Amino acid sequence: MWKLLLVAILAINHCNAVLETDANTLVLLDNLAIRETHSIFFKSLQDRGFKLTYKLADDSGLLLSRYGEYLYKNLIIFAPSVEEFGGDISVERLAQFVDDGGNVLVAGSEKSGDALREFASECGFELDEEKAAVIDHLHYDVSDTGDHTTILTSALNLIDAASVVGSENRKADAAPLLYRGTGLIADKENPLVLKLLTAESSAYSYNPEQSVSDYPHAVGRNTLLIAALQARNNARVVFSGSLQFFADESFTMAVQYAQNGAFFKQAGNRAVAESISKWVFGESGRLRVASVRHHKVGEKNPPEQAYTITDPVVYTIAIEELVQGKWQPFKANDIQLEFVRIDPFVRTFLKQTKSGSYEARFKIPDVYGVYQFKVDYNRVGYTHLYNTTQVSVRPLEHTQYERFIPSAFPYYTSAFSMMIGVFVFSFVFLHFKEETRTGKDDKKTQ
Ligand SMILES: *[C@@H]1O[C@H](CO)[C@@H](O)[C@H](O)[C@H]1NC(C)=O
Repeated sequence: MWKLLLVAILAINHCNAVLETDANTLVLLDNLAIRETHSIFFKSLQDRGFKLTYKLADDSGLLLSRYGEYLYKNLIIFAPSVEEFGGDISVERLAQFVDDGGNVLVAGSEKSGDALREFASECGFELDEEKAAVIDHLHYDVSDTGDHTTILTSALNLIDAASVVGSENRKADAAPLLYRGTGLIADKENPLVLKLLTAESSAYSYNPEQSVSDYPHAVGRNTLLIAALQARNNARVVFSGSLQFFADESFTMAVQYAQNGAFFKQAGNRAVAESISKWVFGESGRLRVASVRHHKVGEKNPPEQAYTITDPVVYTIAIEELVQGKWQPFKANDIQLEFVRIDPFVRTFLKQTKSGSYEARFKIPDVYGVYQFKVDYNRVGYTHLYNTTQVSVRPLEHTQYERFIPSAFPYYTSAFSMMIGVFVFSFVFLHFKEETRTGKDDKKTQ
């Protein structure tokens, strides 16, 4: 009996991998059939604790927020063909949603409508022209019907970031990924865009019904299949050019390269789609600063007003990662601290202590001014951590100097040499005066 209860409690704990506050998710669909054709994907979200609300994308009653509060933290748009969203939702509204910290997963197709195109360009990618599909004449699946648009792309074309695509999925011997849809083009100027999955070098994106008369918009490894954006506020957007990628069929189907016959019992889509959904909805790769402390070595609290130059100082920062719905100490060996006054004067690695927090010890430079302790940790697939703490550093007070400091010896020497000089000079002067006076007296008496 007790054992059963324990198992039940463990099961509940395990289920809710997602934080309570992040669970509400709106799913916009082209038609309700997508709910059935993509049921495995939706079920895996529900099993992890997400509360899904399904709506048609052009439903006139759509509502994203009420009384200034968002009703949802996450949004899934599996509605490639929508030309205009219904109700409260528009492309501007979606951009605002991302600006306010909401996460969005979007899947398009060869027939993507204007709404998705506009939203994509808001996020720094571009969907290829209407009817354009990714074509690969060398890496296509045996199920392909002739135009080579049901392509297979190696798992090695996934981005090299375990927190986004999972640590197990990006391997040379992993099953390839099945993809049928349009190509994406990333804005090269945008440093926030991540290329989650690209096509093989033999692929290109073009309308399969037309002969290629001009240069395709996306060729080879530049053909993005799945792209992501982690905005400056750490909101995440994932854009897939293929809705089919998330379908039950792609999750369960056996795949075989038509060219060399290599056979896989199952495409890699399921594991990758789950990892990507974990990342985009903030279940993985999420960091936060739990606390920051700094003080002089041997003391407990920071000085009331300012540090003094050359003080030895200890800086401690606790960084946590969300793992299975719980905040745990984050493990890394490449987190740096900078002590900055316009330029960094000190840059040092933070070492993890036994308690799990990170610590650096250093001597404050011999220059006074207003400084910042700055941790700026920006790694692909993780939240961008940025935390600064401002402190002032003052020069020594006059009572803090040595009585006789070596650098003052020129002054001592000059003072004493002056005294000696005046002493000698006054003797000379007095003696000289005496002589002139007697001379004058001589003249007068003559
Ligand atoms: C840095 O982290 C501390 C502790 O979480 C927080 O109080 C402070 O506001 C953060 N500073 C910045 C600039 O984010």
